[in-house]
Amino acid sequence: MGAVTVAAGRVPGLGHALALARGPMKFIQGLRSQGDVVTFYLGTVPIHQINSPDLIRRVLVTDAHQFGRGQIFAKARQLFGDGLATADEPVHMRQRRIMQPAFHRDRIATYVDVMRSEMREFVDSWRPGQIVRLDRAVSRLTLAVTAKALFRADLGTAAVTEVCRSLGPILNGVTKRAMLPDVYERIPTPGNRQFDAGLRRLTAIVDEVIKAYRESGADHGDLLSMLVSSEMTDTEIRTQVMNILMAGTDTTAITLSWAFHELAVNPDVRRKVFDEVDTVLAGRPVTAADLAKLSYVERVVAETVRRHTPVWLLMRKALAPVELGDVTVAPGAQVMISMPALHRDPALFTDPLRFDPDRWLDPRASEWPKAGSLVPFGAGRHRCIGEAFALAELATALVTVSQKWELRPAPGPRVREVARAFLRPNALLMALQPR
Ligand code: HEM
Repeated sequence: MGAVTVAAGRVPGLGHALALARGPMKFIQGLRSQGDVVTFYLGTVPIHQINSPDLIRRVLVTDAHQFGRGQIFAKARQLFGDGLATADEPVHMRQRRIMQPAFHRDRIATYVDVMRSEMREFVDSWRPGQIVRLDRAVSRLTLAVTAKALFRADLGTAAVTEVCRSLGPILNGVTKRAMLPDVYERIPTPGNRQFDAGLRRLTAIVDEVIKAYRESGADHGDLLSMLVSSEMTDTEIRTQVMNILMAGTDTTAITLSWAFHELAVNPDVRRKVFDEVDTVLAGRPVTAADLAKLSYVERVVAETVRRHTPVWLLMRKALAPVELGDVTVAPGAQVMISMPALHRDPALFTDPLRFDPDRWLDPRASEWPKAGSLVPFGAGRHRCIGEAFALAELATALVTVSQKWELRPAPGPRVREVARAFLRPNALLMALQPR
């Protein structure tokens, strides 16, 4: 076994906590040049960051059975129970089998119709010259889309507002609670109070939706009907619903926000999107069949997911001693993969910070996921179940908005990336112009 590479700048007692708190992505990105496996410390707890695409594939795919989910998931599980996005084996596989059919590609066509009608309602409410806080608006949109597509539940405006208000503090709270000792949760900080209140409200809303499904007994042909007719208990179903809401709404909303940002600041890209949308659709509403013909839009979506990968860390815990390159990872040790750090590595992608949809014309592009150098949706047994759903939603949103509106950056704070539960823009103010 070779020597473990410890990240530069370790402070006795604190480890690398300060550098990480000051600029998480800068710190994590900086570790890539230090080795294939680099160890940093949160206090005295070691975390092994895996940098090489080969080893990333081993952790996520070929040797996945050697790893359980890491600490963030353990905390989420403690708070919400065993759901698809948090459970370990064998519970996870059983749940995945029950839920997989609802995410099958064949179902996406039906979902695109729901997505389009939600988005049309959204853009029809806009007024020329209006300035919108786009990142907030799309959060609400993706929540409504997920709820209606998968749970058919017309949550109603008040409930959607309520769920949006509750989800933010919950997501941020889970990440914070995973990093800090358990005693932190009992301190009545404003964040902790918002977290507890948010969780109570969200639980109540979700329970009401499940009750309505049970009472009606009708098969709506959606995910919730599937769950209600399975052997799952109401508590298990509630956990799944919460998991889907948490895994699927903010991730998609943030990616969509970045896509609109890139269109707003790259007039050439915007023009090409408009041209393609006008040529292929000639003003008619988009369907699932059209999405396959909108190849430039598809590249814009792919490039947004690469350049602005929202899930900035995946954690795993070694279940047995695992050899990763020169390093033997001890049982119980935490392993971390940062996808955005990978996707911004100039050794893997030319001029990686440039937003260039045409990099996807590279004949090698189809190899990137298999090689482990492009994994925005993860890989292996935990690969995002909602990937096709998210890609369809992103494309449908870009097309539906671009048919009517041109979004331009409005005066306001400089757009920056901030690392919260996900990597997100600080604030996106957009001016709306009819096309
Ligand atoms: C751009 C949007 C999205 C991104 C970037 C994304 C990313 C990811 C990633 C990286 C994972 C793997 C986690 C791991 O390996 O531990 C994951 C898992 C998951 N995602 Fe997504 N996701 C997105 C949208 C969605 C949507 C729309 C849904 C559902 C409607 C969803 C539901 C899930 C679930 C349930 C899991 C857990 C899967 C499992 O462990 O079997 N995600 N996602």
